[in-house]
Amino acid sequence: MATIVINQKGVEQGRLARVEEYALFAFMPNAYLKSHSDDLLADDRAESKRFLSPRWEWLLRGGTNSRREDRHLLFYPIFINPERKAITKIGIPLPLSEKPDLSNVQSQTVAWPLRGDGSLGRWRVGPETMAKLNAEGFVKLGGFDKARGTWTILYLNHKTRQRIKIGEIAIVARDEKSGAVAIEYVGSGGGLKSIKTVWNRSTHDSGVYGSSLLRTIIGSGSSFTFPKAIYSTKDAIAAVTRDRPDALIVDFFAGSGTTLNAVNLLNALDEGNRRCILVTNNEVASDETQSLKEAGNGPGDPSWEARGICRSVTWPRSKFTVIGKRDDGTELPGDYLTGMLVDRDKRRTFRHAAFVAPMDFRLFAGLSPTQLKGTSIFDCFRGNGIAGSARSASATFS
Ligand SMILES: C[S@@+](CC[C@H](N)C(=O)[O-])C[C@H]1O[C@@H](n2cnc3c(N)ncnc32)[C@H](O)[C@@H]1O
Repeated sequence: MATIVINQKGVEQGRLARVEEYALFAFMPNAYLKSHSDDLLADDRAESKRFLSPRWEWLLRGGTNSRREDRHLLFYPIFINPERKAITKIGIPLPLSEKPDLSNVQSQTVAWPLRGDGSLGRWRVGPETMAKLNAEGFVKLGGFDKARGTWTILYLNHKTRQRIKIGEIAIVARDEKSGAVAIEYVGSGGGLKSIKTVWNRSTHDSGVYGSSLLRTIIGSGSSFTFPKAIYSTKDAIAAVTRDRPDALIVDFFAGSGTTLNAVNLLNALDEGNRRCILVTNNEVASDETQSLKEAGNGPGDPSWEARGICRSVTWPRSKFTVIGKRDDGTELPGDYLTGMLVDRDKRRTFRHAAFVAPMDFRLFAGLSPTQLKGTSIFDCFRGNGIAGSARSASATFS
């Protein structure tokens, strides 16, 4: 069990002021946790440094000034040995008038700066610098991105290389096959440690990074009491899935949806592909049920269901944070605390399976009114009606 300080000020109770919540971890007998540079307790590093663990940046430039025509000399092929996951040769820039031959990209032996939207982009450094960095082990392959049809290439930028030079970051290993270095911060807590059973990080404050963050995303209209801080949730998930970038995270009591938000953040931080399934009921907060009842509404009525947790909080929060803007088109303000200083383009596809009321499940399952009598939702799941109906009830948004 981990004790997490979620409110340094403490909740006054007339006796001892409560500052903590608990996270319970259940491990299989042979499951162990990887050590990490942050043990979540030690105070021996500046807080801000915690988010700046040495990181590899994308060689593909994102954001503004990132098209091929913006810097055409930074558009060149990089040749790969997919077995060794090594960069074997750096090509020369292709004249702007010529089209690249992309016919062999799926063979995974060449990488071009291809953007998420399918257009041609550009690398961040020229071929000479790239060759030098590769020889030093300061470039490595991420994964092969099937959607873009090319490799993700990562490199250590100028600032990180400077820090290696002055000894703030150490090269601790070198990959035998690719030659890429492994790096770590030197001293002041830079080594790897076991995560402790008491977590004390200001980012775990559930007022600031739970309630306030939720209000920033969906506004003050929707009430949800005591959401978890996104960073404590992220740290809890990271503790057990740090070396599992393909993990599936399931939250059966999703509430405000912090878990999905945290999984997405963790994926963005470490290039992971973790998936997340949220399950929640559509419970209406007790202080709202009274006024809804007085207005003649009850469970199943549209106005009642619209105030439920799933429809008013879990779904909009998940949708807005994935897309980056709200239904009215306004962009979500602020930045996550990640230490990431670069823009990244990534192709994504979303599908929204429509909201389905319990009665609809039975109708979708193709049961006649007589058969419907006395059936439960679970009876319907046993048939094959649900899979088909879920497909027909789905809608796509972009
Ligand atoms: C404590 S909250 C979860 C908080 C969440 N971790 C967060 O940070 O937002 C638990 C949620 O589970 C929902 N819930 C309760 N019983 C449920 C059930 N049987 N099935 C699905 N969800 C349920 C409640 O409506 C509530 O929103």
